[in-house]
Amino acid sequence: MIASDAFIPVVPPRLIQGVYSDPELERLFRVLRTEGRWPLIAGLYFRSVDELLAVSGRAPDTAGAARLEDFLTPAFRGILGNNGLCYHDDLHEIFYSRKLLDPVKQMHGARYGAPYLFQFNIQGPSRGLDGGHFDGRSWRGMDPTNTPAWLMSVMAKSGLFDAWAVKAGQVITYFYDSSIDGGFTYWPDGPDGEPRRLAPPFWNSGIVTDNQRMFHRGEACGPRDRRDLPDGFGLESRLRAAGETGWDVVNDDRVIAHYGAEEIRLLFHYSAHVFEDMSDLKRYFDHTDDLTLERALNMLMDDLRARGVPFEEPSDPLQDSAFIGTLSKTYAVSPSRFPPQAPLDSAA
Ligand SMILES: [Fe+2]
Repeated sequence: MIASDAFIPVVPPRLIQGVYSDPELERLFRVLRTEGRWPLIAGLYFRSVDELLAVSGRAPDTAGAARLEDFLTPAFRGILGNNGLCYHDDLHEIFYSRKLLDPVKQMHGARYGAPYLFQFNIQGPSRGLDGGHFDGRSWRGMDPTNTPAWLMSVMAKSGLFDAWAVKAGQVITYFYDSSIDGGFTYWPDGPDGEPRRLAPPFWNSGIVTDNQRMFHRGEACGPRDRRDLPDGFGLESRLRAAGETGWDVVNDDRVIAHYGAEEIRLLFHYSAHVFEDMSDLKRYFDHTDDLTLERALNMLMDDLRARGVPFEEPSDPLQDSAFIGTLSKTYAVSPSRFPPQAPLDSAA
């Protein structure tokens, strides 16, 4: 059994309209339309289809061949700032604005806070293949800069490390001027609870949310007859602006699909770290109470023993696939119920 409060957000998500001003939107969209050939989200984190399959836990189909369309949608991402640093001078005032930070501080009743991550997703017409996920977490001493993704996922699911958790929150601002699917599903009472959803149309509509502690997902979106992956689509495919408002999917310079502005769903994802008080803040920045890899692994192994899960103590835990498999299986958790309006799709 998973600790019952491991995936209960500090408060349920709250919707705020009109997050960005018109001049801010102009700046944001200028960066999106002029700076990039933006990679697939999956392309940012996986180098090969095999690697993606290994992490997704999906078995290849009966023919033994990985089918990209079983787990990939045309969802592209650009990073506008990370680790507290803004990557675009034009977006400085937005990234460091109080209007984004204050709602996150308020959500936690925190005294201090700092922006952490700013990114966007542009999604072409897509099936709903996401069965619910939670965003990557940080603990004092362990975060994505020094910890493999599989271990962070296991740590979050175990509920064992909350004493070291860095409090965080997000303002996710959606643009999807359509009512064909495309909502935000969330599980505010944990993965076994009833799902809820915020339904589009969305325009400059912000969700103030604790997405690191709550299962959630973007639903299927775009015209239903356009949701097949374009021919030639792969991990190397990229997205670039086309004309005034459209988007092209390209392989190198070959256009393999075109999306009109009305066919895409777009979101800006802002995330901040917050601190209850000065001692909480200093504990983080002065590293006086950091979790270490060794301590985390020992706590996980103690917990496996307490649960009576048999395993062999690994000599190289980060590379030991049997050990990694045991942990992943022991702490597996995911939502079981979906809104009737937004079922979990299977690939065509
Ligand atoms: Fe997410």
